[in-house]
Amino acid sequence: MPKVYIETMGCQMNKSDTERMLGMLSHLGYDETKEPKEADLLMVNTCSIRQLSEDKAFSLIGTWGKWKKENRPHIKIGFCGCVAQQKAENTFKRAHYVDFVLGTHKIYSLPEIIKRINNGERVCECTETNATEDEKAKDFEINRVKSVNAWIPITEGCNNFCTYCIVPYTRGRERSRAPELIIKEAKDALSQGFKEITLLGQNVDSYGKDFKDKNYRLADLLRELNSIEGKFRIRFVTSYPTDITDSLIETAKELDKVCEYFHIPMQSGNSEVLKKMNRRYDRETYGKIVAKVRKMVPDVTITSDFIAGFPGETEEQFQDTLSAIDEFELDYSNTAAYSPREKTIAAKWTDKYIPEDIKTERLARLNDKVKENCLKSNKKYIGRELEVLIEGFENHKGKNIITGRTRNNKIVHIPSDTDRTGEFLNVKITGCKTWYLNGELVDNNINL
Ligand code: SAH
Ligand code: SF4
Ligand code: F3S
Repeated sequence: MPKVYIETMGCQMNKSDTERMLGMLSHLGYDETKEPKEADLLMVNTCSIRQLSEDKAFSLIGTWGKWKKENRPHIKIGFCGCVAQQKAENTFKRAHYVDFVLGTHKIYSLPEIIKRINNGERVCECTETNATEDEKAKDFEINRVKSVNAWIPITEGCNNFCTYCIVPYTRGRERSRAPELIIKEAKDALSQGFKEITLLGQNVDSYGKDFKDKNYRLADLLRELNSIEGKFRIRFVTSYPTDITDSLIETAKELDKVCEYFHIPMQSGNSEVLKKMNRRYDRETYGKIVAKVRKMVPDVTITSDFIAGFPGETEEQFQDTLSAIDEFELDYSNTAAYSPREKTIAAKWTDKYIPEDIKTERLARLNDKVKENCLKSNKKYIGRELEVLIEGFENHKGKNIITGRTRNNKIVHIPSDTDRTGEFLNVKITGCKTWYLNGELVDNNINL
């Protein structure tokens, strides 16, 4: 059997694409290997969100190109994902040893591409589509990473054009996948033993806005998924602040399987910067939305994303980001220093760029603030009894532990000499660190 190795560099959407590509490849007789040196087919699923991730992708294929030239002429190399979508044919100029370039719009063309490259052709498939690939997706199995959580994309692309972001250029216009297909994929994952479904989209709360024939939105999808029998959890990421409707919050609260967790990226705590980012809210509006979610959903965890050093950001404006994390009690945030991206509007404001050393210094202070608030948020749960879905069994600092997540997405470490992966267990929280809670199993364990 030929062997394939895929290196996955991006977000959950990118990981989900890898699982789909592996499914198609296993259909063609390829076995997955975790060892690139054993592979006949080497693929990288790239991420373009920052310059660094793009550079890493090219450096990786450079290494593979060397292998091919030096002693393994038979290997085939595929360049896929968000950088591929953007560079398209130009990839061959930079890396002549690449056999195929596959963008994000046509991943279901992979079987056809493999046939062609095996006939000695060099292929580039990066045409943009305005439709989902639902029709083709129906025909393929997905080789999901063995875990308790199954990722299911519900929307593709993005229409927001935030001035720093490349995603609308690498993923195209926003399109919602058909509810029937999402439900089928969820049922398949549950029957394979997955215990959690995470619905994915750049902007999940705009799911269904593009359906012309029906009025069907995220709340409707959640209701339908919630009615599937069995014990499992449902999550959804990412929510755009101003698209979160009252009906969505109410639905999330009311449905027993939908978890108390919202990822609502703010990006900056300063209203002027938000305007320049083309985010459609100011600091006050964001605060009101978060307060509403907190009021309506008890114990909810709210996480965010922030960028440090956006072009023109002053020290005072940056401090508004630090104070927003405190004021809105954000439980955790992903952070990044601004990275100029080709084609985006903000990248043209070169005279406003913040020097690297200042960006790095702001990012460090931002990370300190995130840590401080994460610890504060974790402390709230000491002494509480929470349901934990176990995700793994490992040796941590010399002790056997099981790790898992609460409904509100807190990681918990629990001493245990047996692997309980996939079980829902009641856990008493006894302490915490910055990134996780410590807990002990309680006697009355539900074991569903
Ligand atoms: N759709 C989501 C974000 C997807 S991109 C949303 O609207 O929030 C994931 C994160 O990468 C963003 O939230 C942002 O914080 C970060 N990001 C995007 N472009 C960036 C850039 N050019 N430089 C630094 N960080 C960036
Ligand atoms: Fe990028 Fe903005 Fe779309 Fe998120 S909403 S993917 S940050 S353009
Ligand atoms: Fe994801 Fe990176 Fe593309 S964050 S959508 S893989 S640019």
